[in-house]
Amino acid sequence: MNFKSMIETERLIIRRFKSEDWKDLHEYLSDETVVRFEPYDPFTEDESKLEAIRRSEDESFFAVTLKDTGKVIGNLYFGKGDFDTYEIGYVFHTNYWGQGLATESANALMNYAFDTGKVRRIIAECNPENTSSWKLLERLKMRREGHLLKNIYFFTDEKNQPIWQDTYQYAILVSEWKE
Ligand SMILES: CC(C)(COP(=O)(O)OP(=O)(O)OC[C@H]1O[C@@H](n2cnc3c(N)ncnc32)[C@H](O)[C@@H]1OP(=O)(O)O)[C@@H](O)C(=O)NCCC(=O)NCCS
Repeated sequence: MNFKSMIETERLIIRRFKSEDWKDLHEYLSDETVVRFEPYDPFTEDESKLEAIRRSEDESFFAVTLKDTGKVIGNLYFGKGDFDTYEIGYVFHTNYWGQGLATESANALMNYAFDTGKVRRIIAECNPENTSSWKLLERLKMRREGHLLKNIYFFTDEKNQPIWQDTYQYAILVSEWKE
């Protein structure tokens, strides 16, 4: 997707990451509650510094910032797959949950993406136990297309056995978005 410099919404600005964002990024990536369903452990300060640099060079990551203060309160992921399909993801600082900010940002990015004419289908995946995540996907009018049983693991147990988890798959087509 050819991304212009930023997207502005009522409360937010969505832009590319900068290496200077590492402190804000660290505030939420170091929080166990935030990364609970992610395939990684909480970040150390050094890891956050590297991650901010990595994201500043990765076209799939978007920083979500407060319009008023410029603070980075979360991020969106929008990764290209085959057949003009993109996968959306999101991770936000707990202080900014429950205010519709993730919905506002994802909605704006999806609008932008579908309007470019190059995006045909957007998909997302989450653990069924991550209720906040699938509720957000349903607010975005995405359809649940699948419930995969014990198809993936991110971590192993004390006996080094996989901790299998289910996956909900969601999708929306450009034709559905425009309805
Ligand atoms: C997933 C995540 C981004 C959802 O955040 P969220 O704040 O619940 O999502 P929204 O921004 O859409 O906010 C919706 C909530 O705000 C409320 N709200 C308040 N004002 C609102 C508004 N103007 N518009 C929409 N919702 C509003 C809604 O009622 C809803 O509350 P509810 O969950 O109690 O029903 C967040 O939980 C998160 O970062 N989790 C950790 C990372 C993660 O697990 N990512 C997904 C991996 S698959």
